[in-house]
Amino acid sequence: MRVGVLGATGAVGSTILGVLAERRFPASEVIPFASERSAGRSIELGEEELEVRALDEETIKGLDLVLSSAGGAVSAEWAPKLVAAGAVVVDNTSYWRMHEDVPLVVVGVNDEAAEHHRGIVANPNCTTMVALMALAPIHRAAGLERVVVSSYQAVSGTGQKAIEELRHQSKLVLEGDQSPPATVYPHRIAFNVLPQVEVFADGDDYTTEERKVMAETRKILGLGEEVGISATCARVPVFTGHSESVNVQTREDLSPDACRELLAAATGVVVDDDPAAGRYPLAIDAAGRDDVLVGRIRRDPGHERCLNLWVAGDNLRKGAATNAVQVAELLVERELVRRGDAGLFQA
Ligand SMILES: NC(=O)c1ccc[n+]([C@@H]2O[C@H](COP(=O)([O-])OP(=O)(O)OC[C@H]3O[C@@H](n4cnc5c(N)ncnc54)[C@H](OP(=O)(O)O)[C@@H]3O)[C@@H](O)[C@H]2O)c1
Repeated sequence: MRVGVLGATGAVGSTILGVLAERRFPASEVIPFASERSAGRSIELGEEELEVRALDEETIKGLDLVLSSAGGAVSAEWAPKLVAAGAVVVDNTSYWRMHEDVPLVVVGVNDEAAEHHRGIVANPNCTTMVALMALAPIHRAAGLERVVVSSYQAVSGTGQKAIEELRHQSKLVLEGDQSPPATVYPHRIAFNVLPQVEVFADGDDYTTEERKVMAETRKILGLGEEVGISATCARVPVFTGHSESVNVQTREDLSPDACRELLAAATGVVVDDDPAAGRYPLAIDAAGRDDVLVGRIRRDPGHERCLNLWVAGDNLRKGAATNAVQVAELLVERELVRRGDAGLFQA
């Protein structure tokens, strides 16, 4: 099986290459793609050196599976072309996620949705993914009635340039410069918290990131309008690992102990919850691992069927690369690597 990794020089794409190697994904060949700027560069995959290619009608021929994370505009243009050329695309960008013919899959939560793919399978937003690892088992056991998510998101969620900006600004501030240049974010991120992740589109008072968390959670869990979902997303000066405060109101009773028990039994979730001993999910503990950590599980004193949780997950791994590779594994296991219907996906 020939596998393309689109955006291979980026924060997510380079993590995908690592995860493919770690999990020994059954590829006969892995081909990294990036922009024209990187074409010809070589990057490492295990012991191998791979040459980065640019996208064109010739280079995309003969691919079976493509894991794509080169931004929405690239996916809008190239995913239909890749499907037409015979590949199944697992897309990490937000472009196709809400398309009615594109399943949005969190492996371990709604695997069966992948069965109905027509050529593109979308990977959810990293903040959605981290919250859902805790919310899905709760929904299955007690039914969601209302969810309030407040996120504290790492800069690697924005990509390589944001990682460099935090590093550079932190150095300058520590050297006494209180106004280092901010190019990626609208304000300084070093030693600051920004209550804005992505943009306020068309006069909306929620950001596009907040809209994604709300809409994607609904699509993945199949929730109707009767379930209230509210999100506030903030960017914090952390390199990797999104943390989220999740307030969840259920239809059935669910005690903190019962919640701890069901999350401890859930695949891909680790309960880290002994606050008296200083044990709770930390971004630095979540970074570099695939499990999502959940702790601070406690009753909301304001409502008898409401719990508060603290969740932390690696935005680049389960939040992006690991889930994309797990989707690819699922497609292989279920023999779903097959020609799609490119006609459905004209941008
Ligand atoms: N970071 C996360 O935690 C996360 C999580 C989930 C989803 N995502 C999504 O994944 C995508 C990539 O994010 P990232 O954080 O990895 O960004 P990034 O670090 O900025 O990487 C972007 C990648 O896209 C490539 N690229 C840019 N323009 C291109 C073009 N015209 N043709 C082909 N390749 C092009 C870049 O190649 P060059 O190096 O050649 O410029 C690079 O490999 C975004 O859509 C993002 O929303 C990110």
